[in-house]
Amino acid sequence: MSDPEWRRLNRANWDERVAAHLAPQSDYIPDALASGRYELHAIEEQELGPIAGLRLLHLQCHFGIDTLALAQRGAIVTGLDFSAPAIAEARALAARHAIPATFVQADIYEARAALHGVFDRVFTSWGTICWLPDIDAWARVIASLLAPSGEFYFADIHPMAQALDDEVTGSQGLPGWFAPYFQQGALVTDDVRDYANPEARLANSRTHQFIHPVAKVVQALLDAGLRLVMLHEHDTLAWPQFACMVEAQGRLYRLPTKPWLPLSYSLKATKPPAEPKPKG
Ligand SMILES: C[S@@+](CC[C@H](N)C(=O)[O-])C[C@H]1O[C@@H](n2cnc3c(N)ncnc32)[C@H](O)[C@@H]1O
Repeated sequence: MSDPEWRRLNRANWDERVAAHLAPQSDYIPDALASGRYELHAIEEQELGPIAGLRLLHLQCHFGIDTLALAQRGAIVTGLDFSAPAIAEARALAARHAIPATFVQADIYEARAALHGVFDRVFTSWGTICWLPDIDAWARVIASLLAPSGEFYFADIHPMAQALDDEVTGSQGLPGWFAPYFQQGALVTDDVRDYANPEARLANSRTHQFIHPVAKVVQALLDAGLRLVMLHEHDTLAWPQFACMVEAQGRLYRLPTKPWLPLSYSLKATKPPAEPKPKG
């Protein structure tokens, strides 16, 4: 497999973040799994629906905390991530909490070849497609991994919120423009900070990130043969993207004073049922 610059830089960045996220100063609290039902963010808690007994694939699973939370809801889970340290920690976390789960190290674009069989649910959430250059190929991978009548669930930052940054001053104390909503190509940035560990300073700070407009994501899923069955915009987000954001209920954050803009969105898309076999 060729290793383009975006993937090499992003993987080094994510490999390094694993230890930062397991450090005591991090917002991640893996031991919360010990409660037997680790709470996801309120958005996916409300929208996901029952998953007990279903084969569920968690793409870009990081060190597996959400994957294991999904297993605690009765799903038969597989987590996939391209970071070797993340997958090693995911396996250790599963063993420590005696939660059955399979973890596979692979690039998402290689996921079809890396995994066996198909899944009733494919789940992806929070901080995922901003790392991926090709949204059409992403959608085709998801379609190839779903069983007939299977469902894809996605929740992530709204691309409109990615286009703003609070290091650029906007009006009324709000963030200003950072990049075009219709940004073409990678946003190459150097940022030593980490979103979950305020004390971390990343050596592998250079990354390639991407803004995928909502319509492009939806169209990619439709073009891959999926049917859109839910599309929601939210005025909350799973992390405080901008310094002015305040805590909301359910492990979420919102802008102060009023809902100025969509901060996240979520969708469900299903694979059509299998064609009936011709008789005779
Ligand atoms: C923000 S994390 C997702 C985290 C998850 N929502 C959580 O909070 O635990 C993004 C994950 O995507 C993974 N990732 C980024 N690019 C990838 C790629 N091309 N293939 C597979 N995994 C990738 C990173 O290793 C990282 O674990």
